[in-house]
Amino acid sequence: MSEIRTGLGWDSHRLAAGRPLILGGVTVPFELGLEGHSDSDVLSHAITDAILGAAALGDIGMHFPDSDPRWRDCDSLVFLKHAAALIGDQGYRIVSVDSTVVLERPKLKDFREAIRDSLAGALGLERERVSVKFKTAERLGPVGEGRSAEALAVVTLQKLGTGPWHEAVGPEA
Ligand code: C5P
Ligand code: MG
Repeated sequence: MSEIRTGLGWDSHRLAAGRPLILGGVTVPFELGLEGHSDSDVLSHAITDAILGAAALGDIGMHFPDSDPRWRDCDSLVFLKHAAALIGDQGYRIVSVDSTVVLERPKLKDFREAIRDSLAGALGLERERVSVKFKTAERLGPVGEGRSAEALAVVTLQKLGTGPWHEAVGPEA
């Protein structure tokens, strides 16, 4: 019997001067960056929520409250790694990550492979399991006006020892 679970994540941050633009752990050169308590890596936050959601383990704010000074300007890959460890403890592994960053400017497509590698490294996955896509908001709304960025993510988990993986490669060590 296969146990597959799916999680959904979404996040949004304002763009502001004097902040770095960090997406999936990769710093993208731009005149504005994302504002918030941690490093405000909107993509890592959306994926972290999708991982937690797939295992019904709450959300990022429950595990990393923004009232806690430990997380000020924190590298958000820490959140991702923590979420991956939590679901691992529950006997799940990540089958795939799909995501979209919605940002008007700058163009991000040249950073796709670096971001995939960074996320895959943090999650202990092959790059082929990690998808990162980019969209503008067609100049509409706060994202389209260049005032904020959003990210969406869907994560699929599989219980170890069940399903197609198990059938294809046998029981995990
Ligand atoms: O939003 P739109 O459909 O016009 O985006 C077209 C393409 O531009 C996307 O598929 C993506 O490859 C690229 N893009 C990008 N960086 C962005 C937004 C879009 O590279 N910030
Ligand atoms: Mg966030």
